Amino acid sequence: MTLATQPILEVRGLSKEFPVRGARGKVLTAVSQLDLSVHPGETLAIVGESGSGKSTAARCITRLIEPTAGTVSLCDQLFSQRSRRGLRDAYSDIQMVFQDPRASLNPRMTVQAILDEPLRLHTDLPRAARVDASKGLLNDVGLPMEMLGRRPGQLSGGQRQRVSIARALAVDPKVIIFDEPTASLDVSVRGQILELLVRLQRERSLAYLFISHDLEVVRHVADRVLVMYLGTVVETGPTAAVFAAPQHPYTRALLSSILTLDTAQAPSRLRLTGEIPSPIDLPRGCRLTSRCPLARPECAAAQPPLELVGPEHMSACPVVAHSPQPTAATPDAGAVPHDPPLSPDPQP
Ligand SMILES: Nc1ncnc2c1ncn2[C@@H]1O[C@H](COP(=O)(O)OP(=O)(O)OP(=O)(O)O)[C@@H](O)[C@H]1O
Ligand code: SF4
Ligand SMILES: [Mg+2]
Repeated sequence: MTLATQPILEVRGLSKEFPVRGARGKVLTAVSQLDLSVHPGETLAIVGESGSGKSTAARCITRLIEPTAGTVSLCDQLFSQRSRRGLRDAYSDIQMVFQDPRASLNPRMTVQAILDEPLRLHTDLPRAARVDASKGLLNDVGLPMEMLGRRPGQLSGGQRQRVSIARALAVDPKVIIFDEPTASLDVSVRGQILELLVRLQRERSLAYLFISHDLEVVRHVADRVLVMYLGTVVETGPTAAVFAAPQHPYTRALLSSILTLDTAQAPSRLRLTGEIPSPIDLPRGCRLTSRCPLARPECAAAQPPLELVGPEHMSACPVVAHSPQPTAATPDAGAVPHDPPLSPDPQP
């Protein structure tokens, strides 16, 4: 995937702070100075532990909640400055699909009514044409026409998620944000939904922002990946480069949970200590300081910026960036003592 095209979605300096109830002046920093861009036909994945700010970022980007700071440009227009009325028009360009379709689909509406609603709001189509369009959408997501008369409670989890995707497609968007779209589905259905998303993206040149805990899924579907920790981006780059040679200790720890790292450069495993700190009392300097096995006193001095560590690949750890890279033969100080460095699969 080449990034020669202009981004269709561009986020700059996005931050979200929530006031802490009962603690005057205190805030919970969920997202801090987030920059990202997504190009037509591209999938950018956001990964990170629970509480790292992924959903909050997505909700701010779509303005389901208002960010504290930052800008969002969609199709070269400032989406973040739009009035409520202007926002409704812009929702024909950006849509969001959530983890739990049961929560996002109205249980009292039929599938026909669920698909008709966005068509009615965002197009001038007369009723008969909207019915045809709903049938076309069902066909696009691989559901039979008889589903039109059913309600969400009469569908399987996979079928419900297909309806959510059809509803998002109804307005012919350019960008879709998926927040853990397959997390509530069983493994066999998960594969089918992912195949559907890949096919729809290819056919419609859609840009996807894809939030997931499942690193194998991310490796499969994403062109680029962005790793978040406590509201900040710690590493970003082409998926293949990040998975083959993760630079930031946090990314390395996350990827250590996948047993199938399969390249000769795969660094030794690294395990973080302790729990994710409270976003109300953020650690000083690098936010990973309290858990990082490679931490040094200077890590607490200032939050490290993202630095280029390879083509389009950036990481926010100066300690790793300016040290000799560990190899499979020379595990570094952060290696888990009883976990040998991963080596490539034996050749047949
Ligand atoms: N409406 C809210 N009010 C106060 N705090 C919130 C609110 N929404 C989210 N948070 C806090 O913001 C932080 C980030 O939450 P968020 O849901 O964005 O994380 P996440 O990365 O999506 O996690 P998960 O992987 O579990 O979905 C958390 O500490 C969360 O408790
Ligand atoms: S800057 Fe220091 S604490 Fe932060 S990830 Fe790098 S080594 Fe660890
Ligand atoms: Mg979330």
